[in-house]
Amino acid sequence: MSSMKHIMTTEDIADTKWLNAIFDHTDKLKTKLDPLLLKGKLVATLFYEPSTRTRLSFESAVQRLGGEVISVENAAISSSATKGETLADTARVMSAYADAIVMRHPEPGSVAELAYYATVPVINAGDGAHEHPTQALLDMYTIKNEMGSYDNLTFAFVGDLKHSRTIHSLLDLISRHPQKKVYLVSPEELQLPEATKTLLKKRGLALEETSDVAAVAPLVDVIYSNRVQKERLNNDAVYEKVKSSFILTLEIVKTMPEHGIVMNPLPRVNEIPPEVDDDPRACYFRQAKNGVYVRMALLADLLK
Ligand code: NCD
Repeated sequence: MSSMKHIMTTEDIADTKWLNAIFDHTDKLKTKLDPLLLKGKLVATLFYEPSTRTRLSFESAVQRLGGEVISVENAAISSSATKGETLADTARVMSAYADAIVMRHPEPGSVAELAYYATVPVINAGDGAHEHPTQALLDMYTIKNEMGSYDNLTFAFVGDLKHSRTIHSLLDLISRHPQKKVYLVSPEELQLPEATKTLLKKRGLALEETSDVAAVAPLVDVIYSNRVQKERLNNDAVYEKVKSSFILTLEIVKTMPEHGIVMNPLPRVNEIPPEVDDDPRACYFRQAKNGVYVRMALLADLLK
């Protein structure tokens, strides 16, 4: 158990050598699956918050590699948590049932609490507005795959920068590598938290806050947008006010460099109209597909 690794935050996936090994394995799995790689392994998915892609891509990854899955998809209402079971007890019991646990929970830090008591690897599949490290892993892979490198790029992060855990995790990961510039495009109510900005600047990231997405689109390699996280905002009046900020119209996307890409972790609501999907720069469905292969490589590493 001494080499047991949890994936809680981007800190756990930041090592460049490890990252590139995962990406090399991902490339191999994309070309040719190894249907016996996880044979005999059982992974538990425990989701206390809604999910389509994250849970199903983990489950697809395990099963396509010959492993098996047990799952609580609506743990907030269907698990023993409703009877008052603590995360510590859930961790002890799940550790006896499965070889790894993938967990999502609305409370920041809750997955780390479960991991503290677990005796098998635990993967944070999103804890509130805090972190979503495996999304950052697949986003980083996608950037490398599409752009040839995840270094020396110009980014625009657009939308709910305050609550988007996928943006928090990806910003943290890219800031560990030299980048040209990062534009932060959000309504005033949804700006990136001060402490996060301070940390990113300390790492040398050149940040510029703006509210003009059309002005920055021609200047960037990557636009990463995310819906307004209504469930975390918890304020209908503010939601109504900001929900249509920064719609990435086809007109705007067409002004991006030809080699540029538009990313979004999905689900999207109205921030990217469907007519953008046919533009070759729209990469969110390729991004989602990469998620299965990246999670395969990650699980193979954690369970080896
Ligand atoms: C995101 C999430 O759950 O944080 N989705 C995902 O995991 N692909 C983004 C979101 O919910 O907007």
